[in-house]
Amino acid sequence: MWKTAQSSIFILLSLAAGTSRAVNNGLARTPPLGWNNWNSLGCDVSADLLLDTASRLVSFGLMDVGYQYTVLDDCWSDGRDENGRIKVDLKRFPDGMTAVSARIHDHGLLFGMYSSAGHMTCARGEGSLDHEAEDARSFAEFSVDYLKYDNCYSKGRAGSAQTTFARYETMAQALNETGRPIVYSLCNWGEDFVMSWGVSIANSWRISGDIYDSFSRPDDRCSCTENDPSSPWCVSPGAHCSVLTILNKIAPYADRGQPGGWQDLDALEIGLGGMTDEEYIAHFSLWAALKSPLLIGADLRKLSPEALTILNNPAILAISQDPLGVPATRVERNTSVPKDRYGIGETHIWSGPLAGGDQVLILLNAANTDLEMVAYLEDIFAGQGPSCSAPQCNEDWLVHDLWAQRMDNNVASELLQKSTSREDAARILKGTNHYNVSSLSYKKGLEKLDKRLLGTEVDEIAARGALKVMVKRHTAKVFRLRPKLGVAGKRYSLFKDEL
Ligand code: GLA
Repeated sequence: MWKTAQSSIFILLSLAAGTSRAVNNGLARTPPLGWNNWNSLGCDVSADLLLDTASRLVSFGLMDVGYQYTVLDDCWSDGRDENGRIKVDLKRFPDGMTAVSARIHDHGLLFGMYSSAGHMTCARGEGSLDHEAEDARSFAEFSVDYLKYDNCYSKGRAGSAQTTFARYETMAQALNETGRPIVYSLCNWGEDFVMSWGVSIANSWRISGDIYDSFSRPDDRCSCTENDPSSPWCVSPGAHCSVLTILNKIAPYADRGQPGGWQDLDALEIGLGGMTDEEYIAHFSLWAALKSPLLIGADLRKLSPEALTILNNPAILAISQDPLGVPATRVERNTSVPKDRYGIGETHIWSGPLAGGDQVLILLNAANTDLEMVAYLEDIFAGQGPSCSAPQCNEDWLVHDLWAQRMDNNVASELLQKSTSREDAARILKGTNHYNVSSLSYKKGLEKLDKRLLGTEVDEIAARGALKVMVKRHTAKVFRLRPKLGVAGKRYSLFKDEL
C-alpha cells in the first residue's frame, strides 16, 4: 500500500514538473546516506552479507543518525535468460533479489543495486547497455530504491558529452517509465563534462576515478588530476584516487550540486585502516560539506569504535543534510607549505552557506607539518562580495567546533558489542543524549537550534577579522559560523521553505 502510494506521488510529481527527468523525481533532496560494499569487499557479495549489514546499520545506531541505503555494487548477476532478462547469481543470492530487498525494507532501510552503461560491468558481469528497459523493469520488480550506473565497456559510445549523455539518459527514462521512485546515481568518473549535464537526468554523478584508502599519496592510475581538472579528454580516470586528489579535482566546479542532484566524491574509506583517525575526520567532513552522497565503505563486521564515532557525528551529518543544499567551495589554497617525499603539501580553506544564515568553515592541513592556519572573513565571503563588500564580512561571528561533541569510544563500543536491535541502539543513544533522527529530523533540529547539531562555541571572529587555528598535519578543523546578531533575529538567508 505504502509502495503504491509512493509510486503515485512520484508519477504526480513527474507530471507536475512536466518532465520525466530524474532530477525532478522528488528524490535525494539532501545527499543520500547509506552503505556500499565495493571499497572494503569488492566482489565478495552475498545475500548474507547484505542482510547482516542491514541489521548492523540498525543496531549500531547508524540508521538513527540517517543512514538509509544499503547498496549492492558489482558481481551479483549471472548472464541473461532466453528472454533477455538479467539473471541473479543464485549461488550468492539463493532466494533471489526480491527476498533480499524485502528483508532490507523490513528494517525500514532502502535497497540499492548496480549496473553499467556498457555490455559488461567493470567486473565483467552482465551490463545494461541496450537492455535498459528490461533491466529497469527488473530493478523495479526487485523493489530497488537506488541504482548506481557505471561506465565500463561502453562499446565506444563515449568521448563527447552528447554521446555519454544519451547513453545515461536511456536508463534515466527507463527507470522513470517503471513508475518506481529510484535514485539514479551515475558513475562515469567525471568523464565527458558530466558536471555540466548530470543534473538534468540524475540524482548524483561521480566526478573522479575510484577512491582509495589514502589521504594524499599520488598514483598514476588516477589520472585527470589537478593539471586538467575538468578536461573532457581525460583518458581513463581510473582508480587509486586519494582524498586530496579528489578534492583538487572537484574544486573548480564544486558548486554544481543542488537539492535533487549531487556531485559524488565516491564512497567513504573511513574505517578501512589506510588513513589515520585525523585524516578520516578530514575526509568525512569535506565529503559532508561538499554535499557528496555519504556511503559508508567499511565492512561493518569489522567496524572500530573510532570509525563509528566519525560516521555518526550529527553535527557533521547536519552539514551534509542542511536544508539549503549548497556545497562548500574552496576559498583559498596555499601550496607554499612543507612537502612530503612525494612532493605533496598544501592547505585549503573551504566554506559555504548553511540554512538560517550560518556558514561552514573547514581548514584543511595537507602540508607535511602542523601549522597555524588563518581564515579571513574577506575570503570566506568573497563569493558574496569581494574586498569585504559583503555584509557578512562586516558582521561578528560565533565559532562552533563541530568535532567537540564526538561520541565517547566506550559508548561506541557498547553499540558495536551489546546492541542487537534498533531499540537497544535507541536506548544507548538516548542514554548519552546522542542525536536521533527518528525523533527529530536534521531540518527540525536545525530550526530548533539543537546544540548537538550546532556544535560547541569555542571562539569569535570580529567583523572584518580572521580566525587563527592550529591545525595538525593531515587533518581538518571544522566549524559552523553563526552570526552573533543573527541570534537576535538578523539573518542573511532563511530556510529554503521560507524563501
Ligand atoms: C568501477 C566503479 C567502482 C565500482 C567498480 C565495480 O570501478 O567506479 O565504484 O563500482 O567499478 O566493478
